[in-house]
Amino acid sequence: MIAVDSYALLLLLSILKYTIGKPKGVTVAKLQNDLFLRACKRLPVERTPIWIMRQAGRYLPEYRAVRQRYDFLTMCKTPELATEVTLQPIDLIGVDAAIIFSDILVIPEAMGMQFEMHEGIGPVFPHPIRSGNDADKLKKLDPTVDLKYVMDAVALTKKGLSGRVPLIGFSGSPWTLLSYMVEGQGSKTFSKVKFLIYNDPKLAHRLLDKIADAATAYLSALIEAGVNAVQIFDTWAGILSQDDFEEFSLGYIRKIISRIKKKEIPVILFAKGVHYQLNRLAGSGADVLGLDWTMNIGEVRKELGDKVSLQGNLDPAVLYAGHEKIKSEAKKILQAFGKGSGHIFNLGHGIPPDVRPESLKILVDFIKEESVSYHMDDNQHGEKSRV
Ligand code: CP3
Repeated sequence: MIAVDSYALLLLLSILKYTIGKPKGVTVAKLQNDLFLRACKRLPVERTPIWIMRQAGRYLPEYRAVRQRYDFLTMCKTPELATEVTLQPIDLIGVDAAIIFSDILVIPEAMGMQFEMHEGIGPVFPHPIRSGNDADKLKKLDPTVDLKYVMDAVALTKKGLSGRVPLIGFSGSPWTLLSYMVEGQGSKTFSKVKFLIYNDPKLAHRLLDKIADAATAYLSALIEAGVNAVQIFDTWAGILSQDDFEEFSLGYIRKIISRIKKKEIPVILFAKGVHYQLNRLAGSGADVLGLDWTMNIGEVRKELGDKVSLQGNLDPAVLYAGHEKIKSEAKKILQAFGKGSGHIFNLGHGIPPDVRPESLKILVDFIKEESVSYHMDDNQHGEKSRV
C-alpha cells in the first residue's frame, strides 16, 4: 500500500514537473538536438543520429517497474504513464529522438475491436474480422476523440522533452493492421488473411480502404498534436508476393503519405522483408526508408542515390554480443553507408526484451563518437556544430 502511495506521489510530482511554469498555449522550446530531423532531409549533420525501434520497452527495468503496476492498455491510455516511459530511453540511453509510447493496434481498438494483451502470446483480438458483417461494424475513426489519449500523451511528452530531441509518432500500415485484425493475433502462416485476399479480394480492399482512412486521420492528428516526424510500420510486408505487396500494401501506404504530407514533417517507411523494388519504396513519397538487417545499407544507398534517407539496420541480435563485437558490427554499418548525411542509425527491427540496457548504451555512445568522421567533409563548408 505504501509502495503504491509513494508511486502515486512520484507520478504526481513528475506531472507537476512538466506542467508548472509552462503556461498553456506557449509553444514548446526550439529543438536543441535536431540531428535526426536534418538527417531525414539529408541536410548536413555533425554526426549520425541514432534512435531505436521499441526503445521504450521491456529491456529497461524502469519500464518493467511501471508495467508491473499497470496493464499495457492502461499505460497506453494514461498520458502521464505513456509520457513517463517515452522519456525513459532519452534520459537513460541518450538517443536522438523519442517515439511516443503506444502501439500500432490502438487503431483497430479505437475502431471498436476488443483488444487484449496476453502474457507470452502478445496482442489478441478475441473477435477477429471474418466477414463483411464484421467489417461493417468497424466504426469510422475520429482520432481527436477516439484516440484523444494519444494526442494528450504527445502534448505532455513535448512538455517533458522541452525541446531536447524530436518526437516521432507512428502508425501500422493498413496491410499489417489488417493481418492482426483478421488473424486475431500474431501468426506464423498468415493463413486467414491470405485466405481473405485470395477468396474475397473485394472485402480485403474494402477493409484496407477503411483502415487507410483511419491511419491517415490518425497520423494527421498526431502531426497536429505536435510530433516532428511519423513512421509507418509495415512489419508484415515480407509475407506478400511482389504483386500482392503492390496491390494490398504499398498502394495504400502511398495513398496515406500523399494525404498526410504537410508541414515538412518527415515520413519514415519501415517495410520489413521487402528486398525487391527498392525504387518503388523510394517512390512512395516517404522521406526515409527503414531497412531490416538483411540488406546491405551501402548497396541500397548506391541503388537509390539521394532520393531518400536510410534508417537502420543493425541486426537486433548483435546486442546479445560482447561490447567489442557490438562496436565492430556497428562500425561495419557506418562504413557501408559511407560519408555524408542521410543516415539515421537504428536496428533492423525492434530491440528484443532480453537485451541488457548497458549493451544499448554502448552502441549509442559508440555511434555518437565514431560517426563524427563520416560528416567532416559536409561540415568543413557548412555551419559550425549546432549540437
Ligand atoms: O518503439 C517504441 O518504443 C514505441 C512503442 C511501440 C510499441 N509497439 C510498444 C509495445 C511501437 C512503435 C510498437 C509498434 C508495434 N506494435 C509493431 C510494429 C513494430 C514491430 O515491432 O514490428 C507491432 C507489430 C506491434 C504489435 C505488438 N505490440 C506486438 C506484436 C506486441 C507483442 C510482442 C512483444 O514485443 O511483446 C506488442 C506489445 C508491445 N508494444 C509492448 C510494447 C512495449 C510490450 C508489451 C508489454 O509491456 O507487455
